[in-house]
Amino acid sequence: MIEKKITTTFYQTDYNSLSSLEKNLIDLSNQSLNEAYAPYSGFMVGAVVLLENGEIISGNNQENVAYPSGLCAERVAIYYAGAKFPNVKVSSIAISAKSKKFEIKDVISPCGACRQAIAEYEVKQEENIRILLHQSDNSILIVESVSDLLPFMFKSKGLQNF
Ligand code: THU
Repeated sequence: MIEKKITTTFYQTDYNSLSSLEKNLIDLSNQSLNEAYAPYSGFMVGAVVLLENGEIISGNNQENVAYPSGLCAERVAIYYAGAKFPNVKVSSIAISAKSKKFEIKDVISPCGACRQAIAEYEVKQEENIRILLHQSDNSILIVESVSDLLPFMFKSKGLQNF
């Protein structure tokens, strides 16, 4: 048996070091989370998608009394982008979160299903999607590709033929 490893890379920076465009994306994700519909968890997430053509799409989590029917902020935003601008590539996504119930101390990063959803668009567009994660200590974690969040992801070009 041979041990093999996959390395992922992320960058840590702070809000003030970001470009004005990326500061704006973080600001918008912080604004968007305040509009989240999260009466059950009190966990508010904002996700902002920047498209290659400069369009900016904000989303937030939408919960439902039948819990699994709700949807995370990242998928609300990226699916809306896919629906409205099907042929425009996604450049980056900024994500912020806050809880009405507790102080967030864990790393804020998209759930597995959202990573897979973002991966779909990265594979489709054959270009990386940069992901900015706004942390509760105000630092920003950045990955240059969703594959850094989802190593060994499921992708099968063959399935696209059906
Ligand atoms: N949530 C997101 O919006 N994005 C994530 O990546 C993780 C979780 C939402 C779903 C649910 O409304 C609440 O946060 C608590 O899980």
